[in-house]
Amino acid sequence: MSRRKKVVLAGVFATLLLGAALAIRLGPGLSPGALLHVGFGWGVKAPSQDVVAARLHVPQGFTVSRFAEGLGNVRFLRFTQAGELLASVPRAGKVLLLGLGRPGETRPAPRTLLDGLKKPHGLDFHDGWLYIAETDAVGRVRFDHSTGQVSGPIERVVTGLPEGGNHWTRTVRFGPDGMMYVSVGSSCNVCIEEDRRRAAILRYRPDGSGEKLFATGLRNSVGLDFHPKTGELYATDNGRDLLGDDFPPCELNRVVQGGFYGWPFASGDRVSDPDFGKGHEAEVAATIPPEFKFRAHNAPLGMTFVRGERLPTEYRGSILIALHGSWNRKSRDGYKVVLLKKNAAGQLEQSDFLSGFLRDQDQDVIGRPVDVAEGPDGAIYVSDDYTGSIFRVTYGETASTIGIAAAPRPAQPTLQGPSAAASVRELPDRDRVAAQARGAQLFAKWGCAGCHVPGQSEKGVVPRLLTGAGGRYSLAGLTEYFLTPRPPMPAFPLSAEEQLDLAMYIGMTYP
Ligand code: HEC
Repeated sequence: MSRRKKVVLAGVFATLLLGAALAIRLGPGLSPGALLHVGFGWGVKAPSQDVVAARLHVPQGFTVSRFAEGLGNVRFLRFTQAGELLASVPRAGKVLLLGLGRPGETRPAPRTLLDGLKKPHGLDFHDGWLYIAETDAVGRVRFDHSTGQVSGPIERVVTGLPEGGNHWTRTVRFGPDGMMYVSVGSSCNVCIEEDRRRAAILRYRPDGSGEKLFATGLRNSVGLDFHPKTGELYATDNGRDLLGDDFPPCELNRVVQGGFYGWPFASGDRVSDPDFGKGHEAEVAATIPPEFKFRAHNAPLGMTFVRGERLPTEYRGSILIALHGSWNRKSRDGYKVVLLKKNAAGQLEQSDFLSGFLRDQDQDVIGRPVDVAEGPDGAIYVSDDYTGSIFRVTYGETASTIGIAAAPRPAQPTLQGPSAAASVRELPDRDRVAAQARGAQLFAKWGCAGCHVPGQSEKGVVPRLLTGAGGRYSLAGLTEYFLTPRPPMPAFPLSAEEQLDLAMYIGMTYP
């Protein structure tokens, strides 16, 4: 046997051993499919539509169907402005583009948008660029939303992120402040890190300069999203292992600048860590408790605030979170997408949104949710890196209309009603003039010109012209836009009257 063959065989043997070792560690009830997934990294077969219908549960009025399969370890999802879905596949080094299709047409096959990347994971858009978080870098490439094509080289704006160790996924998101947030998980289950950028969320300018530690003590914050109204950053966090089945909780945190969230000294509501808490009482006391505690080992990953109008009103402002599920718990837990919604007392409460991936009786698993994205068609898309599938949950559509070809076109910005410009023209002169004056003051007060008026824009900002905005949006559409502007435009704390004044000003100035 040649030396090369021997090396290959030794590799195969080592992989088998690793798989077997993992199977033993994971405990009984592991199907051969699961073993393949863990040890080798190629997928388990996607469940058939019959299995999906029989096993997966959604709330009353919703329907779940398969949207895509055979995608490998598909992880994070992001919709383009044209309503196409990007999905990262770290193991393949790829970012895929999936079209939703037009009525009457067959949905196009997934297309490889980028490949040759190093464990690409988080995705976001900013200012004409697509940003991709790789395990040791953040890269960006020009992206045209209308054609769904990239152009030019990938520019790595951040390099040298600490890699290796337990948590290799990196997530990138742009905040309403136009800054880039990157989360880097810990290198270990529990330890004191040498590199302070681990177990942290970092913040950069869009060009990768100005690195700052934004928040620390976050063991592995994979999912990030910004509150659509307040602009605050929320992040999921996975609690440590090896302290039993029911401790410590996994977390949802509201992440503030300079905030410390406990790891490795504390978890949950400032509970001292049995291994690392002693002698670190000050850190334990300084820990910011979570907004919500998930059951231990549930592994919350991707999250999204519900922004769209198509779901029932009680969903608006709620949070959908993918629970990847436990791996080191006697009986498995998690393996579903949950909804966090505020109750009458203002506390977040958890309910199931898409469940049934885990069958309790025999511990059989048919999927592990990773990310949740809200489509422009009002449907919720869920990635599953266990079978390489994406599931689609729709509201109010019957099973027969959610066929592959029937996906509706992406929604346009709010256009209902007469244009803002026309509405304002209907007003008596004196009201119109007064509103315009107040709107102009607000426009100046909040520095809108800095991003919108050529010649007055801030350094490095390419002004985004507002020409025609008053014609494209209704007055209500504009006030709605101010409430939930599209990043990087910040959400400003405007009263209802101020929103209207500003809308009238935009309507008249940019008819
Ligand atoms: C930090 C930069 C920034 C500031 C400050 C800012 N905006 Fe914007 N705004 C943007 C960007 C960027 C967009 C486009 C977002 C997109 O659609 O991708 C936008 C979009 C808009 C739109 C929608 C335009 C359209 O045609 O769809 C309106 C209206 C608007 N801004 C008004 C305002 C007002 C009023 C203020 C001040 C209260 C303001 N903006 C402050 C960056 C900014």
